Amino acid sequence: MAQDIEHSVTPHGEQAPSSTMVIFGAGGDLTKRLLMPALYNLARTGLLPAQFALVGVDRVEMGDAQFRSHVEAAIRAFAADKHYSQAIDEANLQRLLNAIVYMPLDFAAPASYVALGERLTQLKTSHGVSDNVMFYLAVGSRFFGGIVDQLGAAGLVTETNKQWRRVVVEKPFGHDLESAQALNTQLRHSLSESQIYRMDHFLGKETVQNIMLMRFANGIFEPLWSREHIDHVQITVAETVGVEARAAFYETTGAMRDMVPNHVFQLLALTAMESPASFDADAVRNEKTKVLDCVHTVNAATDSVRGQYTDGARDGQALKGYTSEAGVAPGSETETYLALKLGIDNWRWAGVPFYLRTGKAMNKRQSEIVIQFKRPPLSLFRNTATEGLTPNALVIKLQPDEGAMLSFGAKIPGPKIEIGQVHMDFHYKDYFQNAPSTGYETLIYDCMIGDATLFQRSDSVMAGWRIVQPVQQYWAAGGAPLAHYAAGSAGPQEAQDLLQASGREWREL
Ligand code: BG6
Repeated sequence: MAQDIEHSVTPHGEQAPSSTMVIFGAGGDLTKRLLMPALYNLARTGLLPAQFALVGVDRVEMGDAQFRSHVEAAIRAFAADKHYSQAIDEANLQRLLNAIVYMPLDFAAPASYVALGERLTQLKTSHGVSDNVMFYLAVGSRFFGGIVDQLGAAGLVTETNKQWRRVVVEKPFGHDLESAQALNTQLRHSLSESQIYRMDHFLGKETVQNIMLMRFANGIFEPLWSREHIDHVQITVAETVGVEARAAFYETTGAMRDMVPNHVFQLLALTAMESPASFDADAVRNEKTKVLDCVHTVNAATDSVRGQYTDGARDGQALKGYTSEAGVAPGSETETYLALKLGIDNWRWAGVPFYLRTGKAMNKRQSEIVIQFKRPPLSLFRNTATEGLTPNALVIKLQPDEGAMLSFGAKIPGPKIEIGQVHMDFHYKDYFQNAPSTGYETLIYDCMIGDATLFQRSDSVMAGWRIVQPVQQYWAAGGAPLAHYAAGSAGPQEAQDLLQASGREWREL
C-alpha cells in the first residue's frame, strides 16, 4: 500500500502549482465536451499553472499536431455552447494548445508506461514543468484498476515531499458494494487514499456547492432544519434526455447505478449532514459519510419503485420507448427511472422521510431539493382547517433554473380572510454574473491545488453502495416489476403512490 504524504493545499483563487496532466481517454467524448473546454476556461481565468503540460493518451495512433487540432476544434465548437463565452480568447487558447502533446498508448502494455514515464521526464525540459502529475482516467470503468496497476508498476505514482502524483477516477466506482470494495483494494495497492480523487461531477455544480452555504452561512435555516419542523424532504433529478447513444453503457447500468449512489446521495448528504468542524476536505467528508451511514435499511418491497419509459410524446413530438432505442435489447428490464423512500436514523432526522426520484425521458429537466415544512399546529382562521393550509416549502433549485424559492401563505386582499400561496424566488442569474463554466473547472483545479473536499472518499462511496444493496438484490431477484411511464411524462403512477400512501405528493415538475 502506498505511503501517505501530506502536501500543502494552495489557497483557492491562486494559480495552481506547476504540473502535468495526463488524460487517459483523450479521444473520448468527456475529454472533448468537458475536460478541454474546462481547461481552456482555467487558462482564460488565470488559474491554470503558468508551467503546465498536458499529455493526451489513447489507443489510436496520432501525432501531437493532429491531436492539438482536434482539441482546438472541440474548444471552438463548444465555445458556442451555453456553458462558454462566445468570444474565444486566442492568446489563452494558444497557450493551452502549446502545452498539449499526444501519446498512443496500449493501456495493458507495461512498455507503454515506461514510454509515458520518459515523456513526462522530457516535458520537464521542453515545458519547464515540475514533477507534479495528475492522471485523469476518462475511460470506461473496466480500465481503472488495470491502468492504476500499470502506473504503480512503472513507478509513476510514487510521491515524495517535493512532488505529488494524483489519480482522478471518473464514475461509476464499481457496480455494487462488492465490486466497489474490490476496485478500491486494487487502487490502494499503488495509491494512498489522499492520492485518489473520485469524481462526482455534481459536486462541481455551483448550486450543489451552494447547499452547504445556504445551510451554514445563514442563521435562519439551520434552527428549522430538523424533525421538529420538517415534514419530509424530496430530492428530484429529472432529465428529458433518453438513453441517446449510450445503450451499451446504460443497459448494464440502469438509473440506480448511474445516478443514485453517487449524484443523488451527494445531494442527500449535503442536505442532511451535520455542520462540519471546518470546511477542510476531511471535516466535510466525515459528516457526509456519517449521515449516509445513518440511512436505515431500505425496505425495497414497500419503499422502492423502478420504472422504464415507453412510447410517448413531448411538445407534440413522438418519443420512442426505451426498448425501441438503438442498442437496447427488445425485452430489456433495465430501469430508466426510480423512486425511493429513505429514513435517517439520527436525532435530527428520525421519522422524517426522504423521497428520492430520478429518471430519463421525463416531461421536464428539473433537479431540485424540496424541504417541506410541517403545517402550523392549529388554524386561527375561520373556515380554514389546518389541513387546508398549504405547508411552507423551501425549494433549492439546482438546474436548469438555478436558485431557491420559499413558499408561504399570505392574505388575499379583500374583506374576507382568505389565504393564497406566494413565493419568494431567488434566481442566480439576477444577482451573479454567470461565469462560463462546465462544472469541471473547479474539480480539475481543486485536484491541482490538493483540495479533495469536492471528491468522494472511499467510505462515502461504500456507504452509498451499502444503502442501495438491498434494493439492488430485491430487484435482481425479480421482486419489483417494472412500472411503465410514457416518455415525456412525470414518471410512473407507482411513484406517486409512494407518497400518496402517507397523504403527501411530489412537487409538480
Ligand atoms: C451522468 C450520468 O453521470 O450524469 C448521465 O451518467 C446523466 O446518465 C448525467 O445524464 C447528468 O448530469 P448533468 O450534469 O447533465 O445533470
